[in-house]
Amino acid sequence: MQSEQLDFLLKVKNKIGDKEKQYFILTMGCQLNENDSEKLAGMLCDMGYTKALELSNADIIVFNTCCVRENAEERLFGKLGEIKNLKEKKDIIIAIGGCMMQEKEMAAKIKKSYPYVDIVFGTHTLQNLPENVYKALIEHEKVKDIIDIDGEIYEGIPIKRNDDFKASVTIMYGCNNFCSYCIVPYVRGRERSRNPKDILNEIRGLAKEGYKEITLLGQNVNSYMAHPGVDLEMAGGIDSFAKLLDAVCKIDGIEIVRFISPHPKNFTDDVIDAIARNEKIARIVHLPLQSGNSKVLKEMNRNYTKEQFIELAEKMKKKIPNVVFSTDIIVGFPGETEEEFEDTLDVVRRINFEQIFMFIYSAREGTPAAAREDQIPEEIKHKRFDRLKELYELKVNDNNQKYLHTKQKILIEGFSKNNSQMLTGRTDTNKVVVFEPKDNEKIGDMVMVEIEEEHKWYLKAKIVN
Ligand code: 5AD
Ligand code: SF4
Repeated sequence: MQSEQLDFLLKVKNKIGDKEKQYFILTMGCQLNENDSEKLAGMLCDMGYTKALELSNADIIVFNTCCVRENAEERLFGKLGEIKNLKEKKDIIIAIGGCMMQEKEMAAKIKKSYPYVDIVFGTHTLQNLPENVYKALIEHEKVKDIIDIDGEIYEGIPIKRNDDFKASVTIMYGCNNFCSYCIVPYVRGRERSRNPKDILNEIRGLAKEGYKEITLLGQNVNSYMAHPGVDLEMAGGIDSFAKLLDAVCKIDGIEIVRFISPHPKNFTDDVIDAIARNEKIARIVHLPLQSGNSKVLKEMNRNYTKEQFIELAEKMKKKIPNVVFSTDIIVGFPGETEEEFEDTLDVVRRINFEQIFMFIYSAREGTPAAAREDQIPEEIKHKRFDRLKELYELKVNDNNQKYLHTKQKILIEGFSKNNSQMLTGRTDTNKVVVFEPKDNEKIGDMVMVEIEEEHKWYLKAKIVN
């Protein structure tokens, strides 16, 4: 952490003293945002705040926003309305950060329509939270801390993790792909990779603390180190995603390694071979399809055709025994015809995706696709979404059969939400498994279970070791 931020952090800490101030963070969007929120929480804890269980108890409320799809905006404005009443009753600090604030119109709208917001910060200035809180709390200033240039990578930001046994580690920031529907490259900037030595040190530290599962994060995670501007001197021999995977898997104590979100075009043979030779890497690989039609894929600027996508999945299946895939699919991209949508269904029929994250296309101001005149009517988009969902649900039932009577190694993640007597975890392939404790097993233990029943979205099992 920068020394000037550390100074601000200590000044806030002195001011708060033993006054028992609490923070509440509301995170929208992806796992990268969740990981950023863990850093915001880490800085707030070091400033002397403790975590509030309810929003109404908080002295500082931080929104970490997303702007990938439109519904996130509606959610933010709804919440801000609720908080206005709170702010009238109590002296709280309201801070809004994250991707949405990198959009100029959004930051301006907050300033104009929500004057009770104290701090607005962007994706490249998260590490300045101590200074921004200091200005709002002590100098009663309104703070706007947003920069347009790509942020530097700051190491050593304090972090308060959400879980005790699984942890996310961001390995690269930004995206260079400019898929024509996507706002991410505009709000997260160009690709920057963290120094592999810092990443490995962080993961070694996590292993020492007892963490067993690591998820490597990046907007385009498998292009780690593939972009220009990487200082190869600093890399210590690790100059590709494949080599990083090998190095992470060598760390004792780490038992499961996942990564999200990759791009099909960056699944080069070295990455596929690294997955194949490292059994710690989960046998579910995210392979975002987006569309199954080659013309739409070209208009999306995805850099692969329907055939190339299918070939890639087949190659991976051959090289990585038992691999399954999850995917992202967008329905109703501008100009998508019925026949083109049918191609998406065709790919879903051919590749047994284990998990499909389905999205209705949402026009994002400033992206090429949003400027097109051939937007698809809402009603048609929804109908296509429902057809895809129906097909997916049929597939889930079929896919579940392969688990019956198999043995699976599971990290116990917690108690079932529906039945607190039951434990839960996930298979290597991300399927939720629910089972009774047998011998005082604890959260964080690895156990062997046998799958007895399938219930569409979860499997029921018994412990066998
Ligand atoms: N509309 C709908 N879905 C989108 N995604 C990204 N941008 C949009 C958009 N404008 C989806 C993609 C991506 C996932 C994280 O969000 O499927 O992989
Ligand atoms: Fe968006 Fe495409 Fe980059 Fe993913 S790869 S973040 S979909 S631009």
